[in-house]
Amino acid sequence: MEYNEYLLKTKSLLESNNAKIIAHYYVDELVQRLAEDTGGLVSDSLEMARYGAKQQESTLIVAGVKFMGETAKILSPDKKIYMLDMEATCSLDIGCDYVNFKKFCDEHPDREVVVYANTSAEVKSIADWVVTSSMAVSLVEHLTSLGKKLIWAPDKYLGNYILEKTGADMLLWDGSCIVHEEYKALELRNMIKQYPDSDVLVHPESPRSIIQMAQVVGSTTKLIEASKNSSKKYIIVATEKGIFYQMKKYSPEKIFLEAPTEGEGATCKSCGRCPWMNLNTAKKVLNVFKSKSNEIILAHDIITKAKIPIDRMVNFRLNNVTHKAS
Ligand code: 13P
Ligand code: SF4
Repeated sequence: MEYNEYLLKTKSLLESNNAKIIAHYYVDELVQRLAEDTGGLVSDSLEMARYGAKQQESTLIVAGVKFMGETAKILSPDKKIYMLDMEATCSLDIGCDYVNFKKFCDEHPDREVVVYANTSAEVKSIADWVVTSSMAVSLVEHLTSLGKKLIWAPDKYLGNYILEKTGADMLLWDGSCIVHEEYKALELRNMIKQYPDSDVLVHPESPRSIIQMAQVVGSTTKLIEASKNSSKKYIIVATEKGIFYQMKKYSPEKIFLEAPTEGEGATCKSCGRCPWMNLNTAKKVLNVFKSKSNEIILAHDIITKAKIPIDRMVNFRLNNVTHKAS
């Protein structure tokens, strides 16, 4: 099917169902375009949460992974929230199960619990704070300045990055992103030598050896901004490659390279693709209203408990902390 046909059908379905699409930068280009061209949003995980909560529509279609749909539901419990694919999850979410994480937290009752947005609603329900990569360092810096001792979960690489930046007293959960964990330092070093007129942009879910070679480390939004602002011809990107659609749109004159994920000499590329983000397709945008079987349903008490740390995340602003964990 041609894109225009998808667009016409999607527009009419969204209208008749009083719905809007909220998509992450990592999903398929066609899905991102459908969100943009129908008045929805394409953004990072923090803005997806903030934006979703403000919309008038009664239904949100979340093109991303499960934790994004759950966050939308927690912030807008009266809305219907549909995922394009219920199997779309995240290795960080899978690697941090409620029972074991609760045990870990219970063993350290003197610590405040900060969890990454890439966790289940159950895990969020026992957290003091939820953060995304765009605010994790600032929030931990703030909590550290108040003398708080912390638990961080689930991403050990992001956790270590935050530790290095803030010097926080923070215990780390042992989780990782299967996409970012695969970037290879030796091959990246070779690629930088091969392209001296380049900037390296890295998502902080990557290993330390990769982060150390970056000009810019940050959330997906920060990396897109950095690609716009860079004066270099080549932009080497260590994050999920769905993001290239936005980067190329803003800077068609630049050449974007995927940071190497395996092999030697930077020639062998494994996919750099999140298998779960990749489940989001334009065809599923049309199907979502047919079966209506992809709805996010959460227990009332989980919504109530998880909303507290998520609200703190949504309301946290740099240099302007509006909510503090008690
Ligand atoms: P952002 O919060 O930077 O959009 O990242 C979400 C994510 O899943 C990264 O892998
Ligand atoms: Fe999770 Fe990694 Fe996929 Fe992001 S890219 S959704 S962190 S598995």
